[in-house]
Amino acid sequence: MKLWGGRFQKETNSLVNAFHSSISFDYRLYEEDIKGSIAHAKMLASCNVISFDDMEKIVEGLKSILENIENGEVNFSEDAEDIHMNVETMLINSIGEVGKKLHTGRSRNDQVALDLRMYVKKEIDKLKNLILKLENSIYKIASENVDTIMPGYTHLQKAQPITFCHHLLAYGEMFKRDYSRLVDCYKRMNVSPLGSGALATTTYPLDRYMVAEELGFDDVTMNSLDGVSDRDYVIELNSALAIIMMHLSRFSEEIILWCTGEFGFIELDDGFSTGSSIMPQKKNPDVAELVRGKTGRVYGGLITLLTMMKGLPLAYNKDMQEDKEAIFDSLDTVKLCIDVFSDMLSTVKVNSGRMRDAAGEGFTNATDGADYLVKKGMPFRDAHKVIGQLVFYCIEKKTKLEDLTLEEFKGFSSLFDKDIYEALDLKNCVERREVVGGPSKSSVNIQLDNLKYFIKKEQKH
Ligand code: ARG
Repeated sequence: MKLWGGRFQKETNSLVNAFHSSISFDYRLYEEDIKGSIAHAKMLASCNVISFDDMEKIVEGLKSILENIENGEVNFSEDAEDIHMNVETMLINSIGEVGKKLHTGRSRNDQVALDLRMYVKKEIDKLKNLILKLENSIYKIASENVDTIMPGYTHLQKAQPITFCHHLLAYGEMFKRDYSRLVDCYKRMNVSPLGSGALATTTYPLDRYMVAEELGFDDVTMNSLDGVSDRDYVIELNSALAIIMMHLSRFSEEIILWCTGEFGFIELDDGFSTGSSIMPQKKNPDVAELVRGKTGRVYGGLITLLTMMKGLPLAYNKDMQEDKEAIFDSLDTVKLCIDVFSDMLSTVKVNSGRMRDAAGEGFTNATDGADYLVKKGMPFRDAHKVIGQLVFYCIEKKTKLEDLTLEEFKGFSSLFDKDIYEALDLKNCVERREVVGGPSKSSVNIQLDNLKYFIKKEQKH
């Protein structure tokens, strides 16, 4: 019979049993469920709701169930519905009548809210470490490419020369923000809902703070209806995960482009590329493509969660059981993607010659030409026009700005002198951008130090 079977005259329809059972996925919460139950039992004893003797038996029983599960000796039962009733049933089967006292003053509604908070907190710690691993890979190649000139783009059209280091450090910033979003939502979710009961707490004199402290929460939730029916923390987390995937996907897209024959900026290690079953010459960036492709399912998780919650009256509704598969899949996907992506990144071979050549095409030094005239006293708008005309002249002549003769320059403005060639040199174009955040060596060194400091500081935590 079901643990809740008292008021029922009939067995649950077998299809319904399979339909509403969540053990096939919420078994993952076993450790949190057992730790939560141990804390609950200890608190019940300390508040004189159950005896110390009973508490000790319950705690012993729970500990050996945890051991059995960890040793793979447990077959969960679909009939017992979810992880909470599986564990409780096992407890009653192993220690007998005393086990029936565990669920005093508690509901599965506050129990599952507690377990899931504990689980995602643990997952956030793993994610944070993975982001640091990724930042390390970024730092490593970025610091090796401070002098690697490449074209910077807007509209995927060549714009101005930058360095590969500068480009990579943009991703370093994105993942720093992702990290702080995780830290942020962790803080907000770090309150214990246990003691909320089914929705209206309980008449037993429970000490919610004791449980919260024992389980590593900063505080307790302030309203019991909210305590059992809030899933903001799952949604916030999935939204942080969706943003991480968006960043990884942009990065992947660039890696895929850079690996093409057309760009040829980088080459992936053989261990991180795959071949074709028909075309012998192929070397495909499947890892990056798959990361880009998996972004959709993490966005999907977010939409699943938001949609699941939008029409729910207070307090708990069974709809909320759907939160787990969504967030579990998002977590698994993001962890895997960050892990494999960082390893792929750290084996990338950089083709600095191709990058430099590409930066030399497309008049990426045109802005610097205009700035040159400004320094000689011409208003920027006029300088822009003069260089625009020079660019057009070069396109017609199939040449580059820096290959024009001084006479040709002077034909467009008398302000040109022989130092124009220095101004158009790509290295100078990069090095003269010393503004905070820019591509020059002095500027990226600050950015590199910043990233290194961030990694070090967070690794110590
Ligand atoms: N398996 C349920 C879930 O994941 C646990 C809570 C069930 N509560 C209830 N009253 N049916 O949401």
